Amino acid sequence: MAAKQAATLAAFGTQHIGRGVARSTEHVWAAGQGSWMHSMDGKKYLDFTCGIGVTNLGHCHPKVTKAAQEQCAKIVHAQINIGYHNPAITLVEKLLPVMPDKSLDTFLFVNSGSEAVESAVKLARHATKKQNIIVMQGGFHGRTLATASMTRSKTIYSAGFGPLLSGVFATPFPYEYHYALAHGKPQSSSLSDACADDALAALRLLLKQQSAPADTAAIVLEPVLGEGGYVPASARYLRGLRDICDEHGILLIIDEVQSGFGRTGTYFAIEQANVRPDILIMAKGIANGFPLAGIASRKELMDRQTPGSMGGTYSGNAVSCAAAVACADVMQTEGILDNVKARGEQLRSGLSALQSHAKVGPLIGDIRGLGLMLGLEFSRSAPASIATKVQKAAHDRGLLLLTTSVFETMRFIPPLTISEAEMKQGVEIFGESLKAAASS
Ligand SMILES: Cc1ncc(COP(=O)(O)O)c(C=O)c1O
Repeated sequence: MAAKQAATLAAFGTQHIGRGVARSTEHVWAAGQGSWMHSMDGKKYLDFTCGIGVTNLGHCHPKVTKAAQEQCAKIVHAQINIGYHNPAITLVEKLLPVMPDKSLDTFLFVNSGSEAVESAVKLARHATKKQNIIVMQGGFHGRTLATASMTRSKTIYSAGFGPLLSGVFATPFPYEYHYALAHGKPQSSSLSDACADDALAALRLLLKQQSAPADTAAIVLEPVLGEGGYVPASARYLRGLRDICDEHGILLIIDEVQSGFGRTGTYFAIEQANVRPDILIMAKGIANGFPLAGIASRKELMDRQTPGSMGGTYSGNAVSCAAAVACADVMQTEGILDNVKARGEQLRSGLSALQSHAKVGPLIGDIRGLGLMLGLEFSRSAPASIATKVQKAAHDRGLLLLTTSVFETMRFIPPLTISEAEMKQGVEIFGESLKAAASS
């Protein structure tokens, strides 16, 4: 009965929900609890997607749910142009101490990652009085018109939507696995340095040949490419970027929409390179599923903006901010970063163990990432569409996984609260799925 009802609803959805939104399953989800999602037809799935890196504290974390419920009963929409509300102010108090640099002391809250990226670009252009923006090849910044123009992870985000935002230039991202393949050498620390140096040299060339520093407002990047394949940038590269920005009066915008809020083992991934962003972009994990995003920058830059020029009707919604305050408390009190470290190591070693398996080992090209933001790229000898086949095989065995990028890559984004037993189960299912897909 429930299965029939679910199938009817899904068919109705297919008929009436725009085709531009893709789905990796046709489930109608009924509930989510911790690391698990429950479909309307009574099936249960271990969630290694977190709704694309959002429900970092697990589905419906009781403290986050309670905070949102209580705020709903107080005031839902305390519009930001009409005054302050307590959850937003409290959230700023919680965020200030965890910013990757003390200079990031002023905030703007919006509704989505894309809107936050657009706000960062507007801030950079307005503050520097310069126009051009440099992005990374493989970078993803959203689906609005400006952010689609800045996205270089797949052409589907921009194809057919032109003319796109002008003044956007792309520079190569230091993709170590591909660099090693191109050079016919195994990955090593000296090759990592060479990869970073080559990417920095390409950027310097871009600033000489295509976008003069005097016209360049900002360089925008994800410290770990998300939709571009879960590829971390080395500290050497990120420090080199900072130097180039300082040399030329260019702002460094760090997009931590996917990598932020503990996902990589530190509050923000950029901390691990000890690099100061001029503007930090946040979303997803900030409120564990409630729509909230934001930017942080220094007051001196933010205060150049004309009052009324930023924000929007729903910016910094009170319920979302209350949920975000609860998330910040959970991060502090429930040992989340320690769990990311332990479970990240468990996941990495589970995936690495598969590399020694006679049949599937040679299919695994690269295992990479930080904390619980890990990617597994298949080798060039793997069968066509292997990532999608593994994703399907995993689903059939009760594990939700996502692929990423135009290369054959799986991404692993389990909840930061995942238990040791759940991780063991997820890794086992992944191994079985890989073996099944390899022999299909
Ligand atoms: C790094 C990054 N930036 C920006 C965005 C866009 O965020 P949203 O989908 O909330 O607009 C995403 C979404 O996945 C992202 O991963």
